Amino acid sequence: IMCGIIGIASNKPVSINIINSLKKLEYRGYDSAGLATLNNNFIDEKKCSGRVVELEKILFKSPSNGNIGIGHVRWATHGVPNIINAHPHSSEEVSVVHNGIIENSDELKKDLEGQGFKFKSQTDTEVITVLVTKLLQNSKPLESVFKTLKKLKGSFALGIIFRNYSDIIIGARRGSPLAVGYSNEENYLGSDSYALKSMTNKISYLDDGELCVLTKNNVEFYDVNKKKINKKIYTVSDDENISDKGDYKNFMSKEIFEQSETIKKCLSEYTDSLKKDINIYNFPIEPKKINKIILIGCGTAYHSCLVAKYWLEELTTIDAEIDIASEFRYRNLKFNSNNLYIFVSQSGETADTAAALDICKKNNVKTCSIVNVVESTIARNSDWVLPIHAGPEIGVASTKAFLGQLIVLYILALKLSTIRGDTDKKIYSINLNNLKKLPEAIKNTFKLESEIQLIAKEFLDAKGSMFLGRGNSFPIALEGALKLKELSYLHAEGYPAGEMKHGPLALIEEGLPVIVIAPKDKYYEKTLSNTQEVIARGGKIFFITDNNKRLLSTNIRFRLKVPHVDNLLSPLLLTIPLQLLAYHVALLKNCDIDKPRNLAKSVTVE
Ligand code: M6R
Repeated sequence: IMCGIIGIASNKPVSINIINSLKKLEYRGYDSAGLATLNNNFIDEKKCSGRVVELEKILFKSPSNGNIGIGHVRWATHGVPNIINAHPHSSEEVSVVHNGIIENSDELKKDLEGQGFKFKSQTDTEVITVLVTKLLQNSKPLESVFKTLKKLKGSFALGIIFRNYSDIIIGARRGSPLAVGYSNEENYLGSDSYALKSMTNKISYLDDGELCVLTKNNVEFYDVNKKKINKKIYTVSDDENISDKGDYKNFMSKEIFEQSETIKKCLSEYTDSLKKDINIYNFPIEPKKINKIILIGCGTAYHSCLVAKYWLEELTTIDAEIDIASEFRYRNLKFNSNNLYIFVSQSGETADTAAALDICKKNNVKTCSIVNVVESTIARNSDWVLPIHAGPEIGVASTKAFLGQLIVLYILALKLSTIRGDTDKKIYSINLNNLKKLPEAIKNTFKLESEIQLIAKEFLDAKGSMFLGRGNSFPIALEGALKLKELSYLHAEGYPAGEMKHGPLALIEEGLPVIVIAPKDKYYEKTLSNTQEVIARGGKIFFITDNNKRLLSTNIRFRLKVPHVDNLLSPLLLTIPLQLLAYHVALLKNCDIDKPRNLAKSVTVE
């Protein structure tokens, strides 16, 4: 189960703060929610299917008064999203919230059922509840949890409360992230620091195998061998433009229109206008010795890796490879200490990406992470971190993080090109100068919104759609298709335009919407020919370009003109109309923009 966890031990009732934190954690899962507090030696459990607001309504009618409690938002894997399968999973003695997957739950359940224990839900989590309950008959809470963990295979972050030990919460981590927060007469457990931010900025992170015992006044940590340990306390950054939609209808639209500012901020972090240079130092491998760069990510982050491959090839003499993290982690790879492995992730918590990073660490190669959340697992585990400075991204569909990842990858490629002497000084300074124009150009691209609203209508009844591009516009086609799929549930395919004739052209029929992304680069004429092939088969073309010249063909249904920037940077601008298109189609279809069905913001299961 990929989900959000919260736990609060306090000297006052905790349910309202649990609800508020769960709202923040909804980006991790939102098909059901629940909480349990301890009230006069009774576990008061409340659950609902659907969103946290439903849980809030239940609490409103029947308040929970306990000073200690745990809460959960769920993204279902084992068992349908209903009230019974929602967390916490409680017995009379204990209540458990869990993020992760217990791989041997079937085996354990069979064994426990054989001993006469009964199960209520279809989840893997309930075996933890039953095991701890059973072990509590002969041991204290800490001991029962340790013994339980020994029996579990898989990944988890856990929060557990105990009827007869009304002042403690036990937390444990193996694979799934877990943070601890500190405050006055109040301590917290959370899936991430973001969920705790309104209550504290003092945070520690559990490492794999560790366990913690929280009371309102104290937190104790134990390693996998039950030895007491000390943990470092971090002060997490205080982002100004945190989780507030302002005047926007939803987070996604806010995050799209913020992009001129987030890119400006990121540029100011990485460029030194006085020295006319890029502020990137301390490479984990001496840049001239880098043999190959391998870029790894999932979903949108993978698309930014794809764009970066074109940039590295164009700007440097370094070989570049890309990989999807869930594939990388299981391949039989040959590691090389002169290769730099770059992990791209908005959340920094994506399980597949984190596992791929672990494999690199085990093979003693140098790693870099490009993340938005600098306190994240991936950031903490890599040798070198390049933050994208985009501020919290709440919408499940990634938008400003994509542009942030692109700009950092571009800056990195540019810096490598100059230190290695792959580009001469003059071109370096022209390329640097080109960056300055980006924020304004992004702002001007937003002006296309009213045209895009018209285009969106043409997608409403479409059977499907295609997104085509060549060169560094090909990954943008993939990203445009992904955005449309996840937001509007409309089938969309992204393809390299030149590949259409090898199969996908068969999909083209009268009126099928086809987005062609065609900046005036070296592929332009080729893309035009591919466009004609689609037109000849009845495809309805929406042509996105930075070329001022109008095309003669009347068969193009719509032409969107983005501002012209250097060809290397055009992917950043060409992405924006596609984000807006997906957004407006979803809006017309009345879809849940910030929380598309079946998805979650941070994918912490593999
Ligand atoms: O947090 P990450 O960047 O590692 O997440 C990777 C993907 O799960 C993410 O980009 C996903 O594809 C988005 N929903 C796309 O909009």
